[in-house]
Amino acid sequence: MQDILGILLMFAGAASGLLVQDPVVCRFTESNQCYVALGKRLHLQITMEDRFELKIIDKTSTSRLIINYRKTQSNPPNPNPPRWQFVNDNKTMILTSAERSDAGTYTLSTFDAKGNSKGDYTLQLNIEAQVSSVKLSYSCLFPEVRKVYCSADGDNLRFNWTPESAIRLENENSTLVLEKTHIASVICRVENHISNDSGTITLEQCSDFTLIILSLVCVLLIILSVLAFYIYKKRQGLRNKEAPSQDGTELVYAQVTHLPKNKTETKPRIWFYWESNPGHQRSNPANPH
Ligand SMILES: *[C@@H]1O[C@H](CO)[C@@H](O)[C@H](O)[C@H]1NC(C)=O
Ligand SMILES: *[C@@H]1O[C@H](CO)[C@@H](O)[C@H](O)[C@H]1NC(C)=O
Ligand SMILES: *[C@@H]1O[C@H](CO)[C@@H](O)[C@H](O)[C@H]1NC(C)=O
Repeated sequence: MQDILGILLMFAGAASGLLVQDPVVCRFTESNQCYVALGKRLHLQITMEDRFELKIIDKTSTSRLIINYRKTQSNPPNPNPPRWQFVNDNKTMILTSAERSDAGTYTLSTFDAKGNSKGDYTLQLNIEAQVSSVKLSYSCLFPEVRKVYCSADGDNLRFNWTPESAIRLENENSTLVLEKTHIASVICRVENHISNDSGTITLEQCSDFTLIILSLVCVLLIILSVLAFYIYKKRQGLRNKEAPSQDGTELVYAQVTHLPKNKTETKPRIWFYWESNPGHQRSNPANPH
């Protein structure tokens, strides 16, 4: 029993491996939209007819003939551009590596052996780059509101979110707005016509806004004080340049004035002496002895 299961698993693995490498097969008789990944292999099946013409009208509305087939020709014709290859046995056009320039409207005109029209078929070929590099980020708008952003590489991206409840979508669904929920992680799945990829992000609760404002004020204060210190330092530097110092040692100037105590005032003085001499009394000529 286990052996059978093992063989079955191996078979499933091989089958999925084959599926991955399988080319995209498009037929003119089926739905007229065909999606191919950039760089992937495309098989375009043509109905068995005596004659057919395959044309492309590309995005610049230019019409080009790719192949003109007649059953009566001895050698099967070579397609143009030569990136296309025609397999006569099963009437398959093969494109080994699809390019963006291959996108366009393909028209197949079929004829019978006498050259009468047997019908025209069209097919829209779309080339898309595969979805890759899904990136998620988020931001807090208010304490209760978080926005989750999803981005990816690739063409024609569509965004899907998990969980799908309590959701508001913006930006062509690439942004998810979470309000008043405690959802801890979200998954963003991105897909286009040919591939899909997904990413997960863990969400923290948004911190309280008063706390944020407080910390902003703190940061502002720190910046201001650093600025003030810097300006102060710069001014000091300027002052030091005016009186240059050597080896960082500061010169201190002091003006010393000395006033001797004895020489306080040198104002000229007028002295009056009154001499009295008892022996030589001033003689009064008017009053002789
Ligand atoms: C047609 O033949 C080619 C070459 O053998 C092969 O690669 C391709 O798969 C065939 N296509 C179909 C639809 O069978
Ligand atoms: C966004 O998602 C909604 C459903 O979730 C869908 O109907 C709509 O088409 C999407 N819009 C785009 C631009 O993908
Ligand atoms: C996503 O891609 C895988 C193959 O890579 C495919 O099996 C699966 O169905 C895709 N899922 C969706 C939702 O398209």
